[in-house]
Amino acid sequence: KSFFPDLSPFFLSLPLLLLLLPLVLFSVPGSNTPPGPVSFPIFGNWLQVGNDLNHRNLVDLTKKYGNVFLLRLGVRNLVVVSDPKLAAEVLHTQGVEFGSRPRNVVWDIFTDNGKDMVFTEYGDHWRKMRRVMTLPFFTNKVVQQYREMWEEEMDMVVRDLRGDRVAQTEGVVVRRRLQLLLYNVMYRMMFDARFESMSDPLFQQATWFNSERSRLAQSFEYNYGDFIPILRPFLRGYLNKCRDLQRRRLAFYNDNYVEKRRKLMAARDGKRLRCAMDYILEAEMNGEITSDNVIYIVENINVAAIETTLWSMEWAIAELVNHPNAQQRLRKELWDVLGDEPLTETNLQRLPYLQAVAKETLRLHSPIPLLVPHMNLEEAKLGGYDIPKRTKVIVNAWWLGNNPEWWHKPEEFRPERFLDEEKEVEALVGGKVDFRFLPFGVGRRSCPGIIVALPLLSLIVGKLVKDFEMVPPPGVDEIDVTEKGGQFSLQIVNHSTIAFHPISP
Ligand code: HEM
Repeated sequence: KSFFPDLSPFFLSLPLLLLLLPLVLFSVPGSNTPPGPVSFPIFGNWLQVGNDLNHRNLVDLTKKYGNVFLLRLGVRNLVVVSDPKLAAEVLHTQGVEFGSRPRNVVWDIFTDNGKDMVFTEYGDHWRKMRRVMTLPFFTNKVVQQYREMWEEEMDMVVRDLRGDRVAQTEGVVVRRRLQLLLYNVMYRMMFDARFESMSDPLFQQATWFNSERSRLAQSFEYNYGDFIPILRPFLRGYLNKCRDLQRRRLAFYNDNYVEKRRKLMAARDGKRLRCAMDYILEAEMNGEITSDNVIYIVENINVAAIETTLWSMEWAIAELVNHPNAQQRLRKELWDVLGDEPLTETNLQRLPYLQAVAKETLRLHSPIPLLVPHMNLEEAKLGGYDIPKRTKVIVNAWWLGNNPEWWHKPEEFRPERFLDEEKEVEALVGGKVDFRFLPFGVGRRSCPGIIVALPLLSLIVGKLVKDFEMVPPPGVDEIDVTEKGGQFSLQIVNHSTIAFHPISP
């Protein structure tokens, strides 16, 4: 008889135990977290779901796990919400609880650990930054002050296209000229400065710095080191690249723009504030914010205002080219209502179809389809589940606007829906909100720039359609509207080449 106990039953049950290990490790007694895939030690669900958590892949997971589900991505928790009622909870009813922003190793570099406004945690610093930015950027008075400048910049785009033979025959990549337009609009509002042309060296530097920043921050490439701290040393090169870029980028804004306004302010003794930066510098002189905050306000406007609005313009134009009937209906509205009168911000209200085109574009191709991620600083409840503290909470706003359960044939570009069955739906960030349509979010962390972005989008689309028949370039039947998603952006993969045939009134 052997001295040793018989271990064969243990070894026989070993495979079963190994199979159950993840459940044992992660099923905390009494925990009531949202459903989600079985999670494994160290990696959580990362190996199952991968890196590319774009709005469409999240819809697939929603169909499997429900309208609120939890992914464990290494040390990070991610909750995804895909239902209007739950979105209302996150953004409105529990807007304070879910009003923070998650951090990650790359955003920490690009915000210097939250010195900015867009990505900072909810609290006194965010409140102060949002207050300081509101007066010079986000009020009706600002729109009144700048609308003529916007129109002037857009009329230059129309004039350039009218004078460009290539644009009228072979077509041009319209994004390039619209990018110059938006940089000029935003830099004139910010600094009372503009770029002469696309070959202006300052314009080239500004666009390069911002697109590099977007590329590095929006990439999924660094997820592994963010999710799994033991892998972080492998990210050293990537993080150094981010640090180096951010240092040079902030110096670019400071040396070329902020310092110039600072000198002008000093010379004028602070009287006669002219552009947004003057108000911001006044807040600095009053001790409300620091010089670091000043530069991060500039940084945030560069990140939040320009590309988002540009993407929406690109999408709108591409869809109108692919839907000549919609383009024709819009042109008819513009000519019937305005005749020879130029399109201005003040007459946008008289153009319901134009507004419907803007809304339909933002519904079908929301530039920020997952909103900017939210986060709860403390443990919270959502849809009856416990949400662990510091969970990244994503609202899949794109799916709210494209779920066939809630919209009639949502895959179709049909602006008419906003004049017919969806005529009550507005792109609002306050007031009577429809939680199926949130291109700008809603509530405390909603987009304050809606007051600028919506008229800019409608104005340029209206001006182009009034003056040109926009068609695909010769030999092309349809504009390619394939999407490219980032951590939370939605862009067109191939920037469209469009031919602009001038219309004689
Ligand atoms: C935040 C969309 C243009 C400034 C946001 C958010 C979305 C959004 C979805 C996050 C909302 C949330 O987290 O709940 C858009 C779209 C735009 C646009 C679709 C253009 C079509 C602009 C413009 C500006 C701007 C032109 C500035 C002039 C901001 C700022 C925030 C923000 C500062 C951060 C708010 C905060 O965290 O408190 N935007 N935006 N955006 N947007 Fe916009």
